[in-house]
Amino acid sequence: MRSYILATMLLGSTFVTNVWAQPQPFSPNYDEDKVPKFELPDPLVAADGSRVDSADAWRSEQRPRLLKLFAEQMFGITPTTPFQQHFTLHSADDQALDGTATRKLVTINVQGNGRTLPLDLLIYLPNKTRQPAPIFVGLNFEGNHTAHADPEIPFPRQVYKSGSGEKIVPAARGAQSGRWPVEQILARGYGVATMYCGDIDPDFDDQFANGVHPLFYEPGQSQLHDDQWGTIGAWAWGLSRIVDYLMTDADIDHERIIVMGHSRLGKTAMWAAAQDERFAAAVSNSSGCGGAALSRRRFGETVQRINQNFPHWFCRNFKKYNNNEDALPIDQHELVALVAPRPILICSAVNDRWADPRGEFLSGKYASPVFRLLGVEGMAADEMPAVDAPVYSRIGYRIREGDHQVLPGDWSIFCDFADHNLPSSHCSPQ
Ligand code: GCU
Repeated sequence: MRSYILATMLLGSTFVTNVWAQPQPFSPNYDEDKVPKFELPDPLVAADGSRVDSADAWRSEQRPRLLKLFAEQMFGITPTTPFQQHFTLHSADDQALDGTATRKLVTINVQGNGRTLPLDLLIYLPNKTRQPAPIFVGLNFEGNHTAHADPEIPFPRQVYKSGSGEKIVPAARGAQSGRWPVEQILARGYGVATMYCGDIDPDFDDQFANGVHPLFYEPGQSQLHDDQWGTIGAWAWGLSRIVDYLMTDADIDHERIIVMGHSRLGKTAMWAAAQDERFAAAVSNSSGCGGAALSRRRFGETVQRINQNFPHWFCRNFKKYNNNEDALPIDQHELVALVAPRPILICSAVNDRWADPRGEFLSGKYASPVFRLLGVEGMAADEMPAVDAPVYSRIGYRIREGDHQVLPGDWSIFCDFADHNLPSSHCSPQ
């Protein structure tokens, strides 16, 4: 078995134990020299230790095996029970945003266990495009109305404060428009579809009493099993419901649906793309621990810390790896590999050390052999690229100055990456 030995630590093991074994107080490691030695699982070694040496073996055995491990040990298993859903198109206004856009308001009604969960979707499509539009799909943190000041966007039915679950007054219209520069994205020929993550599952630990989970409980079940989906799993499932709708919409290019997410929603975008191959590409922005960052590096946020602060995000099995990262049967480079051979862009920010930019880059680098086995290039950079020197290979990487955020300039990079890796089979609108 080929192994990757990364980073050496000069400190003695007694000190290491003291640093990593104590839950309180937590002081994140931001020192590259203190990253412990570790060995990553090789994505191309099968369960029996043999080498995965063909695209066919990857597709038929290794990929399903890794997906199952991520499901059972980390994000939780997404239910496969059949469910009913229907779509309501409330409006399709081709005069939105001063006539430059078509705005569609859709509700995806999901039914299960006698309950209906309404998921409200906001879509903007560029009017200058005559062909079906490629589209970025992403969840938002505070409600669809925060993505743009457009007064026609309905407020969410209910907004919950992350963490506490307190019901709160919705933020102002357009409060998050810096993260969703709609006009800029449309000018590049892409549409945008977004949904409030709290519609799918509010972001707090309520033992899964609300949100989508109870729709899938077995008769008599009121608690999740240790390997069943957490909130990130539910959000990823919601992203797939958006694709279900988009597949029915002739104005969308069904071959170019790109999932994008920031931070916790970046972890979600990666898990959604890993499971649902209808996503043609993925963009992870500062997804950090549980997203693109390698867990074994324990740089910035750690498995123990994320499970403690956000006990509902992952399945209960993931807690077995608190301060025990080396026991994980997977690491995050394999989540990137599960997107192969589809393009994936990993973005970091210099000040966002909590998300471990170097760990995010390395997961892209170490996913590369899987992409190459499937006949496409992996990450074109061997060393971490300089600030603002994006690499647009099939696994792309970009780090910029600044903080944990999504900026309009980041969207230029997302669009460049998509232009490069998902060229249109139609005439370009530009
Ligand atoms: C916290 C959390 C991160 C997460 C981020 C976010 O910082 O520790 O894991 O990515 O919130 O979603 O904004």
